Amino acid sequence: MSTKPLTGHECPGDPCIIVIFGASGDLTKRKLIPALYNLKALKLLPENFAGIGVAVTESNDELFRAKITEDIKQFATRPFDPAEWDNFSKRSYYVSGDFNDPATFSRLAEKIQEVQKTWNIPPNVLFYLAVSPTFFGKVVEQLGAAGLTNESEGAWRRIIIEKPFGHDLASARALNTELTKHVSESQIYRIDHYLGKETVQNIMVFRFGNSVFEPIWNRRYIDYVQITVAEELGVELRGGYYDHSGVTRDMVQNHILSVLSLIAMEPPASISGDSVRNEKVKVLEAIRPMEPEEVLANTVRGQYGAGIIDGRHVPAYRSEPDVNPQSNTETFVAMKLMVENWRWADVPFFIRSGKRLAARTTQIVIGFRRTPLLLFGRKIEDNVTPNRLVIHVQPDEGITMDIHAKRPGPGVSIASVPLDFSYKAFGESTAATGYETLLYDCMIGDMTLFHRYDSVDASWRIVNPILDVWQALHPRDFPNYAAGTWGPEASDRLIEKSGHVWHHYQLAP
Ligand code: BG6
Repeated sequence: MSTKPLTGHECPGDPCIIVIFGASGDLTKRKLIPALYNLKALKLLPENFAGIGVAVTESNDELFRAKITEDIKQFATRPFDPAEWDNFSKRSYYVSGDFNDPATFSRLAEKIQEVQKTWNIPPNVLFYLAVSPTFFGKVVEQLGAAGLTNESEGAWRRIIIEKPFGHDLASARALNTELTKHVSESQIYRIDHYLGKETVQNIMVFRFGNSVFEPIWNRRYIDYVQITVAEELGVELRGGYYDHSGVTRDMVQNHILSVLSLIAMEPPASISGDSVRNEKVKVLEAIRPMEPEEVLANTVRGQYGAGIIDGRHVPAYRSEPDVNPQSNTETFVAMKLMVENWRWADVPFFIRSGKRLAARTTQIVIGFRRTPLLLFGRKIEDNVTPNRLVIHVQPDEGITMDIHAKRPGPGVSIASVPLDFSYKAFGESTAATGYETLLYDCMIGDMTLFHRYDSVDASWRIVNPILDVWQALHPRDFPNYAAGTWGPEASDRLIEKSGHVWHHYQLAP
């Protein structure tokens, strides 16, 4: 698996055409085209490469090139290089049409053939479904019917599917059944942009590339784990989608459970392909779905009211565009999960995520057990914090280890001091969108960082009973936290019940 920023020292991806469905959408202009452009600049796009955008909007190759040229000037994460861009842009094509109409797919098939001939590209095609989830099944069905998913003569056909994969367990299963009528599991790349983040990928190197951590990475030494994914942003212009989703579906079912499984998994036999995915799914399977009374005891949901973020008044969730003014959708969640296996029995995993919180931060805190400090004339319950390891995923990227040290001076006074490692120490600026690694991995056929269906199923099995209880019991106190805070008070009580508090660390500048 790719464990460091792509540098351009890797081999270019396989020669191929990338077809992006949803070419006029936000994801394409903000992330996908800038990511492909970065790959090109790093010499990681193959020589024989072209892109085809597909969308309902009427357009043609020329207009599409003009549009993406305007967009890249705004969204590129590296300096704009006209010559490099020109080479990219002239390999870009467009097909317009309705995704329900077979004629769109016949036109696409013709376009693929024409582009293959022009640039001497073998029949490898990567289809990226940057479309509303309601189209996932339809687009794949139409691709299958048009013969575009057939892998023959050593060529590959791969499909990247954005989240959410299903709305609940039943719909995820139905979608998977639908997709696998037309393509096999080995052709489906379920993308999770969190797994493209440097520090998330670094979890494995950190755990398995250092001999000091793995021996203590278990219930004998670790007291608890916390995963916080906090956003300052509200729902922006995505109220229509979000109001049917909520933070549990939007963040927990995919990103957070995947990060949790990287933290908790057993060492894989190898660092690529199915070995890692096998271990990750075992963790999810060890999290027993909650009974209704456990849902009440171990989860908290919240929704933001109006408040202040960065000195600016922001509206309540229920006043956001396209949100039902009586909405009961949760914009905050906190929960305690137990991984019931030999390594983790009795170690609580606390997770929380929300919109419009006090800071934008994603961090993982590993709390170690207390030492008996009696040796130094202190009582165990004295206020020296036990060792903690913090993995900062964003906005700062790095790792902090809190250790105990003697304060200088006479007598023995103990203080907790941080040992900080910041990614800045590498001195490399990654200039990335977060999609480069994932697109590149798909081009080379490395599925490690993509969700296999069994892990999607296992995640839904964890989340679904919680959503069912919440749906049956409408929240009476929404909105229950002000924008710009750390969520509802009940979230603090949830963790305090287990004798802990939420941590929020900042990496030293
Ligand atoms: C997306 C969610 O998957 O992740 C968004 O749909 C969320 O609601 C986003 O804002 C957060 O991603 P990041 O990379 O900004 O932490």
